[in-house]
Amino acid sequence: MSTTPKLRMAGVKKAFGSKVVLDGVDLSVEAGHSLVILGGSGSGKSVTIKCVLGLITPDDGVIEIDGKNVLTMSRREREEVGDRIGMLFQNAALFDSLPVWENVCFKLLAQKRITRAKARDKAAEVLAQVGLAASVGDLYPGELSGGMQKRVGLARAIAADPDIIFFDEPTTGLDPIMGAVIDGLIVDCVKRLGATAVSITHDMASARRIGDQAAMIHKGRIVWTGQAATLGHSGNAMVDQFANGEREGPIQMELRK
Ligand SMILES: Nc1ncnc2c1ncn2[C@@H]1O[C@H](COP(=O)(O)OP(=O)(O)OP(=O)(O)O)[C@@H](O)[C@H]1O
Ligand SMILES: [Mg+2]
Repeated sequence: MSTTPKLRMAGVKKAFGSKVVLDGVDLSVEAGHSLVILGGSGSGKSVTIKCVLGLITPDDGVIEIDGKNVLTMSRREREEVGDRIGMLFQNAALFDSLPVWENVCFKLLAQKRITRAKARDKAAEVLAQVGLAASVGDLYPGELSGGMQKRVGLARAIAADPDIIFFDEPTTGLDPIMGAVIDGLIVDCVKRLGATAVSITHDMASARRIGDQAAMIHKGRIVWTGQAATLGHSGNAMVDQFANGEREGPIQMELRK
């Protein structure tokens, strides 16, 4: 029996002016799985995720969550789907003018799903899940280190108990130990929520820790999908070149053209 994927993208295209960024992205993630997306800088990874979130409207294609095309549904339905999605942005993207606790519970507060008093308690609870003291809730994003900002971003992503979570470069800019800590938190949070996860990363150690499945995007298309554990020895020359950080290979040859 085939099950409906949690997320399915088919033929998703997006151009900005004459620049084609997504050239028919096909991708599928089963519920409860964790997919990592790899690809060079500017290959369209963030744009892919933003299309799913509704921050960018594709020119063509289908994006289904639980079998329903989010591109054709009503605004209300789309908002309901959005409520079940969590997102950790590439640069954490916290609101500088709000204290951490309001950042963490931003969605719940904005939708009046929680009182301000309850939001403080909820923020403390979620901050504890990412290894931060409740007192961090009263700080402002500008008072946090990069690693703490990532953890607050992660807390915000999980605060509304999403069933699908996107992580855009969760460990970029962190030291290797903090990177491993964040990866561990991601794996724990995803497991605790029973969520489906889609992560973008350049970091192969991180990809193997977070993902069970992997996909590589190149020139706006998914050129390979497979098991994250096989990264580096997948048998696909492009993927292995990327995963092993080798200068010579099909990717550079294309650059030379
Ligand atoms: N809103 C936008 N308007 C115009 N061009 C855009 C927009 N968003 C993204 N692009 C372009 O689309 C291309 C892909 O961008 P994207 O952010 O998806 O890259 P990426 O794969 O996430 O790269 P990185 O690894 O550096 O984060 C880039 O050339 C970028 O300039
Ligand atoms: Mg990006």
